[in-house]
Amino acid sequence: MKIGIGNDHSAVEMKEEIKAYIEEKYGYEVINYGTDSHESFDYPIAGEAVSRAVVNGDVDLGIAICGTGIGISLSCNKVHGIRCACCSEPYSAALSRRHNNANVLAFGARVVGPELAKMIVDSFLTSEFEGGRHARRVGMIMDIEERESQK
Ligand code: RB5
Repeated sequence: MKIGIGNDHSAVEMKEEIKAYIEEKYGYEVINYGTDSHESFDYPIAGEAVSRAVVNGDVDLGIAICGTGIGISLSCNKVHGIRCACCSEPYSAALSRRHNNANVLAFGARVVGPELAKMIVDSFLTSEFEGGRHARRVGMIMDIEERESQK
């Protein structure tokens, strides 16, 4: 399993902590698509990079972190095929996989601390899409994307 991770300047330490946590706990390869500098860095660049890695199949799932998680999640969701869920607690992160088949998790480094972030990541990585009625609804989401791209 490969995980892509992207971040802006507000989330350098959080990115490093989460990357090390995933590598150690799960043994997954974590590929860095974010900045390692505290210089101001525009979050859409990292959001697009990690999202393209997911849709290209370079990684299985993505994690996107900015100050609030909002800007980077909005950016991720502009990439066709991405379903990015911005979560501040583990329950939503689990349901984003089980019901929404989210393929990128976003959260805010200025919103959640590192221990809560690890719980959110655990929920995301250990939950599976349930399909069934949820597949129909996720299909409807992707149909919206398709219709929008034809405008
Ligand atoms: C950067 O200052 C901040 O705007 C960014 O990390 C994020 O919170 C945007 O949504």
